[in-house]
Amino acid sequence: MIKARNLCKSFGSLNVLSNVDIDIEQGEIVSIVGASGAGKSTLLQCLGSLLRPTSGTVEVDSQDIYKLSEKELSAFRNRNMGFIFQMHNLLTEFTALENVMMPSLIAGENKKNVKARALELLQKLHLSERVLHMPAQLSGGECQRVSIARAMMNSPKIIFSDEPTGNLDTFNRDEVCDALFSMCRQCGSTLLMVTHDKELSARADRIIVMRDGKLFAQ
Ligand SMILES: Nc1ncnc2c1ncn2[C@@H]1O[C@H](COP(=O)(O)OP(=O)(O)OP(=O)(O)O)[C@@H](O)[C@H]1O
Ligand SMILES: [Mg+2]
Repeated sequence: MIKARNLCKSFGSLNVLSNVDIDIEQGEIVSIVGASGAGKSTLLQCLGSLLRPTSGTVEVDSQDIYKLSEKELSAFRNRNMGFIFQMHNLLTEFTALENVMMPSLIAGENKKNVKARALELLQKLHLSERVLHMPAQLSGGECQRVSIARAMMNSPKIIFSDEPTGNLDTFNRDEVCDALFSMCRQCGSTLLMVTHDKELSARADRIIVMRDGKLFAQ
């Protein structure tokens, strides 16, 4: 599903990724761990079409993504990828429901169908009572679950997640993880997540350790 070759990313004279190769299968749940500053977020963004590498290639579902124009890449991202970040990036002036509906509305789908699917996802994440709340009226764990629903909305082939459970207490962390994992398993989505959380990373099919801009299998 993801195939990167000779991936390099530098910021000025700072080499963050050096000749990274990575292969991730369809439906695989992979965690990336490593010390702060090791380059985990940089790698995730390069693989997730959000940050152009200095050199090397990234293929997602056999598409060389950085060969696409910006417009084609946006459409490809909207169709195939979901993102869950620690700062969940919900749109503050829209309700939970509207936030979840957004990716499918952008894709030009019928509003009634979109609303029905968004409500179903929110129900699965135990948020039926919160659909009309604004992000500021939700707890951290609830915001995180809304962002999971939003990421799943277009049934993406891949979910990219940077610290999905950062800032959550143990109870909320387990709830959020269970929700995320079971949704990915149900939809057969690939999940690539960066985490400092040992219990969370241990639940992945595979753990990749990042050190000095290089990858090591654990
Ligand atoms: N836009 C940027 N410009 C300059 N340097 C950057 C930029 N983004 C990241 N870096 C540097 O690249 C290195 C790797 O950053 P990255 O965010 O990938 O680390 P990380 O492994 O995700 O760390 P953490 O666990 O703290 O989130 C860091 O030393 C950081 O300072
Ligand atoms: Mg990071």
